[in-house]
Amino acid sequence: MNIAQSTVLVTGANRGLGLAFARALVARGAKKVYAGMRDTDGFSEPGITAVQLDLHNPASISAAAQRCGDVTFLVNNAGIARYEQSVLDPAGLDHAYAMLETNYFGTVRVTQAFASALRRNGDGAILNVLSVASWLARPPLAAYAASKSAAWSFTNALRYELKQDGVLVSGMHVGFIDTDLTEGLEVAKQSAASVVDAALDGIEAGLEEILIDETSRAVKASLGTPAAIYLAPPDAG
Ligand SMILES: NC(=O)c1ccc[n+]([C@@H]2O[C@H](COP(=O)([O-])OP(=O)(O)OC[C@H]3O[C@@H](n4cnc5c(N)ncnc54)[C@H](OP(=O)(O)O)[C@@H]3O)[C@@H](O)[C@H]2O)c1
Repeated sequence: MNIAQSTVLVTGANRGLGLAFARALVARGAKKVYAGMRDTDGFSEPGITAVQLDLHNPASISAAAQRCGDVTFLVNNAGIARYEQSVLDPAGLDHAYAMLETNYFGTVRVTQAFASALRRNGDGAILNVLSVASWLARPPLAAYAASKSAAWSFTNALRYELKQDGVLVSGMHVGFIDTDLTEGLEVAKQSAASVVDAALDGIEAGLEEILIDETSRAVKASLGTPAAIYLAPPDAG
């Protein structure tokens, strides 16, 4: 896809990775950049049009799809993370429901609402922001991982269905990024700007799966091997 020819909507674009996407798309010359967000009050960024969009609210998603009927590139970025000590903790179920609601069902809802515009407008693409956790499930991110695995599965079915319409469906996998979502986690983090650059390079190259960092590449490469990283015991890191 040629980003300079695209009209893009990024969900969850008021902050974090989504805002970095919106800014980078403007910098790459996208024709129009819509920033989806729950609360548009006070949002002001050069070249970016704020659009009210809440993944939990079907009416707001339909209204956004009506308003942004010229979209050719959808970035399903909005998401949440909740942390738990153990998958066996009953309290973790509330977290799991919340993350599936946003990260999986929210992504499905937005995609369904925008699919006809993407089919109609031509040269379309969808980028689903997934995670290395799609393939690596461990506390404190096990329920988050389940929500990203579900979104990965949706991405694969979606790709199969939209291929005949010429819509590129891509999933990006990445480890920790320095945003509010990882605040307080004492781990190495990548900058949002560097992640977005790699993701948009992947879209311009027509990649159906974008492995942003060495962690994602190593975990994916190990999946079909006896040394699969998801099988490693805790003391293996
Ligand atoms: N940070 C990481 O290490 C990392 C790694 C891999 C993948 N990811 C993925 O990257 C994406 C962006 O995460 P981030 O790191 O930028 O997180 P973030 O800084 O916490 O930002 C999350 C964004 O999602 C929006 N959002 C949450 N629930 C929403 C809803 N119901 N409707 C509309 N928007 C909603 C938030 O809006 P509000 O401001 O209204 O809350 C915010 O704009 C997520 O899908 C996340 O899973 C992140």
